[in-house]
Amino acid sequence: RDFTGYTFGLVRLNPGHWIFPSDFMKFADKLYNFKFKANDVLIMTYMKCGTTWMQEMVWTMRNNSNLDHAATDDAINSRVPFLECDMFLGSTAVPPPDPESSLCKEFAQLCPGKNPEDGFFLQMADAIPEPRTIKTHLPLSLFPPELLDTVKIVYVARDPGDVAVSYYHHAMLFKSAGYVGSFESFISNFMDDNLLYGPYWLHVKEAWEKRNHPNLHFVFYEDLKADIMGELKKLDTFLGTNVNPHQINKIRDFTRFEKMQERGNVFTQTGEPDPFTIPMIANQHGGFFRKGKSGGWRERMNDNQVKLMEEWTTQRFTSNGITFNSPR
Ligand code: A3P
Repeated sequence: RDFTGYTFGLVRLNPGHWIFPSDFMKFADKLYNFKFKANDVLIMTYMKCGTTWMQEMVWTMRNNSNLDHAATDDAINSRVPFLECDMFLGSTAVPPPDPESSLCKEFAQLCPGKNPEDGFFLQMADAIPEPRTIKTHLPLSLFPPELLDTVKIVYVARDPGDVAVSYYHHAMLFKSAGYVGSFESFISNFMDDNLLYGPYWLHVKEAWEKRNHPNLHFVFYEDLKADIMGELKKLDTFLGTNVNPHQINKIRDFTRFEKMQERGNVFTQTGEPDPFTIPMIANQHGGFFRKGKSGGWRERMNDNQVKLMEEWTTQRFTSNGITFNSPR
């Protein structure tokens, strides 16, 4: 079943009911067997939990702590490749990357002689210079059990209500999704685990259970909003980057919502037009950088939806010891 209007077929994997575009099957083996290196950092999140923000923080901390590097204008997703992104390229609504785009030029440079059909993003992820930082929305259980003994993982979780609202906006905004259904139906499908990527609560639970593993750093979006300096220091300790207080200040400023919104370089270089999103939706409801706030879902939902979301959150998260400190 396809509730989000995605133009590609979906597959549902068991156990766990993870839901992906059917092209996932083309890349499943390569994804499972992706050769991670000991100094890789993997940013693992469910959709809309603050992935892009974390990508920029981690990449900058590891590669450009003085912020003097021209590469910061490059697309975040080419500096920190999206591991399973190839499964989305089969969508009829998304044109293949423009050969003249910075992304294609970068592929040609990084992967000379390689065929993009064998995995455009997978091969980029493999070829980027060390230290590599890679993004995935795949859950822990879809990787080999020894993954955490190989790489460091930064996991970001966010209040489910905010994830659901942000995801709804994402599904309307992206050409590959083009969601035109109701908000109400989207929210109930989110709580029924019926959206692309599947059960949010299970994704978080799997990482939460490993939160004490020395190679997993579990972060809440709400804590990033409430105390960014404290969280950047913790991140620095986890990554072993040894950035000084002056650099931390600069990284905080550089990764502020407004600054990232201004650069807008999630998929394309700063200033390059974004071919993936629907301009009309961006104009009416905001673009990729929509609000960047915690707890806003309570205003977006009606009283009944708020009650249902609170009950669902209690059942699925609080009962497992996971609480979200969004402002009320
Ligand atoms: P909203 O839709 O609630 O505004 P992801 O990167 O995982 O897709 O998450 C996107 C969400 O993170 C969006 O939430 C986006 O606005 C927010 N976000 C992106 N950059 C941010 C930043 N620098 N600070 C705070 N929130 C940010």
